[in-house]
Amino acid sequence: MSNDSNDMPQHEIIMCMGSACFTRGNKHSVEIVKQYLAQRNLQAIVTFKGCLCNNRCKAAPVITIDGHHFEKVLPQSVTEILDHFFLNDGGNHESA
Ligand code: FES
Repeated sequence: MSNDSNDMPQHEIIMCMGSACFTRGNKHSVEIVKQYLAQRNLQAIVTFKGCLCNNRCKAAPVITIDGHHFEKVLPQSVTEILDHFFLNDGGNHESA
């Protein structure tokens, strides 16, 4: 007998919700990421969470995917970044 416990999150998206990142774009990007994950049924393999300011405000808005820091991410760029990350090779690339 097997269960579906293998469906553990394999990827992690962390969106900075600090004031600089939030006001410069992550306020909108958070909804874009949620929709992206839902539309592609990725919630089972992707953990999506927010964080407080991590002292990268000069590069705001910041989104971190599997440890890769994406800086100055405008809402209109979010889908492109996620596509690049998740459609290419599952995030096994070296740089953005
Ligand atoms: S508010 Fe995001 S790094 Fe400071």
